[in-house]
Amino acid sequence: MSNRTFTMVKPDATSKGYTGAILQQITDAGFTIKAMKWIHLSEKQAGAFYAVHKERPFYGELVAFMSSGPIVAAILEKENAVADFRTLIGATNPAQAAEGTIRKKFASSIGENAVHGSDSDENAAIEGSFFFSGLEIF
Ligand code: CMP
Repeated sequence: MSNRTFTMVKPDATSKGYTGAILQQITDAGFTIKAMKWIHLSEKQAGAFYAVHKERPFYGELVAFMSSGPIVAAILEKENAVADFRTLIGATNPAQAAEGTIRKKFASSIGENAVHGSDSDENAAIEGSFFFSGLEIF
């Protein structure tokens, strides 16, 4: 089991001024920030990040949204990071997210759902290295 996961605070949340509150909830839950950057993805970069969803009907919408404004990308560390972070953020659709989770508090729809969290240790490593080189992880 890995102790790292990867997250993004998405453009809906950064534009509404939720970045600070979301990062606070993440660190309050015991996650340590190992790498972080504030970045505005191009459509090409967002498309490459979400290439795994290329055949899904929502892919175009997802790419347009993720390149619509700045995001915060980060690598987080904690024991059981991937599973614990997915519990902290709640279900992909905020309407189904548990009370107190980040998506329940800050997300508005399944597409504009405030945060991303890796779904496996393997994807956490792939996604983290999409944004960060070894020199940027501390
Ligand atoms: P995320 O965890 O970042 O991974 C893929 C994203 O696709 C997901 O969060 C949602 O924001 C988005 N997504 C998943 N299902 C849908 C859908 N039915 N319509 C629009 N966006 C979706």
